[in-house]
Amino acid sequence: MKPVIRISQSAQYENQEVTIKGWLYNMRSSGKVRFLLVRDGSAIIQCVVVKSEVSDEVFEKTELLTQESSLIVTGKLVADKRSPLGYEMHVSDIEIVQIAKDYPITKKEHGIDFLMDHRHLWIRSKRQHAILRIRHEIINAARQFFNERDFVLVDSPIFTPNAAEGTTTLFKTDYFGSPAYLTQSGQLYAEAACMAFGRVYCFGPTFRAEKSKTRRHLTEFWMIEPEVAYFDLQDDMQLAEEFVSYIVQTVLKNRRAELETLERDTKILENTVPPFPKIHYNEAVEILKKHGVDFPYGDDFGGADETILSEEFDKPVIIHHYPAEIKAFYMKRDPQEPQFALAMDMLAPEGYGEIIGGSQREDDYDTLLQRIREHNLDEKDFEWYLDLRKYGSVPHAGFGLGIERTVAWITGTKHVRETIPFPRLLQRIYP
Ligand code: 4AD
Ligand code: MG
Repeated sequence: MKPVIRISQSAQYENQEVTIKGWLYNMRSSGKVRFLLVRDGSAIIQCVVVKSEVSDEVFEKTELLTQESSLIVTGKLVADKRSPLGYEMHVSDIEIVQIAKDYPITKKEHGIDFLMDHRHLWIRSKRQHAILRIRHEIINAARQFFNERDFVLVDSPIFTPNAAEGTTTLFKTDYFGSPAYLTQSGQLYAEAACMAFGRVYCFGPTFRAEKSKTRRHLTEFWMIEPEVAYFDLQDDMQLAEEFVSYIVQTVLKNRRAELETLERDTKILENTVPPFPKIHYNEAVEILKKHGVDFPYGDDFGGADETILSEEFDKPVIIHHYPAEIKAFYMKRDPQEPQFALAMDMLAPEGYGEIIGGSQREDDYDTLLQRIREHNLDEKDFEWYLDLRKYGSVPHAGFGLGIERTVAWITGTKHVRETIPFPRLLQRIYP
C-alpha cells in the first residue's frame, strides 16, 4: 500500500509513490500519452500516463474515463516547474470507482439559470471552488479574531417570537399553533449575553423575506455579530475596522492561489488596514451632491448611492450618525444631536455595498419602552429585552457583518448568489 495523500500535500512526498483519491477534472491525449487532470478537493494535479510505462490494462482504463468520473490513481510525484501546483504524477496504476455519464457542466458557456439549477455540481468547478474556499477562510479568520480577544460565542435562537430588524421582512412560521418568525438577526439575544459575559458574538444563518431582486440580497444569509458591554459608538467602529482588516489580511496570507484563480486585483485588499475613513451622514450626503445625485436628505442610501460613496475611498469607509428616523428602534440617539442615531455602516470598496451595520444601543428603560411603542411593536414580546435595562444597564454596542457580501467583495464576485454554497433567493429554493 502506498500512502494515500491529499494533493495539497504533494511537496512532502516528492519522488515518492503515493495514491490519490479523486475525480477526473479534465483529460487530453497526445499520441501514446494521456494527461489526466485529477482533483481531490484540495487541489488539481496533472497525472501523466505513458503507454510504454504501464500495463495495457491500465492504459485502456484511460479510454473509459469521462469528466467527473471518480478514480484512484497511484504513481510517483515529480517536481514540475510549469504546473501551478509544482508537481505532477507519473502514473503506475488506476482504479476506476465510477464512470460519470454525460456530466452536464461542460467547457462550453452555460447560462446562469442552468448553472444555478446545477449548483450541486457547479461547486466542483475551479472558480466556485475558489470562492467557497475563501468563504471558509473568512469564517475561520472571523472566529479566530474574536477568540483571540476573549469573546465568548453565545449563539442566538433561529425561531423567535419578535422582529429585530423591521416587520416587513419577516418569515412567518407556525410554532405549534402560534406564530413564530425566523430570526433576522441574533443581536437582541447577543445583548442579553453580553451582560452575562462582557464580550460575546453569535454566528448563524439569518432570514429576511427580501422582495428585492438585487445582486446584494439573499433571503437566507450568515451574519456574525459581536456585542460588547461598556462599548460606545467609537469603540464599535474601531472594533469593526480591526475585524475587517484582520479577515482581509488573513485571506491574503493564506489564500493567494484562490485569489489568483479568481484573477482578483489585490491592491485595495492590501490597503485594507486601520484606520478606515469615518464620515458623518451629512458628509456622505455632500459627496453624493458633489456627484450630481439628487438625494433626498434624511433617506437611507440605496445601492447606487453606496457605490458612489465607496468609490470615493481606497479602503472600506464607515458612515456614522444616520438619521434616527430611518434606523432600528433599539439604536441610541446622540444626546448632542438627537435627530441622529449612534449608528454606523461599513461600505466595502469597489461598489460592493454595505458589509456591516451596527450601533450603540439604547440603554435607558423609559426611552427604549417609548421606542418600542413608537414602532408599534408588541411590548409583551420585549419584556425580557427591557429587563436588560432594569438590572444593571450599561452602555453597549455591537455590529453585524454579512458573510456573503464580505465574500463577494474579497473574491471580487459581482453577485452574492455565488458566495454561499446553496443560495436562497427571491425566486430560488432549489437545489
Ligand atoms: O444592517 P443589518 O440589517 O444589521 C443588523 O441586522 C443588526 N442587528 C446587526 C447588529 O448590530 N448586530 O445587517 C447587517 C449586515 C449588512 O451590513 C449586510 O452585510 C448583511 O447583514 N445583510 C445581508 N446580506 C445578504 N442578504 C441580505 N438580504 C442582507 N441583509 C443584511
Ligand atoms: Mg444595514
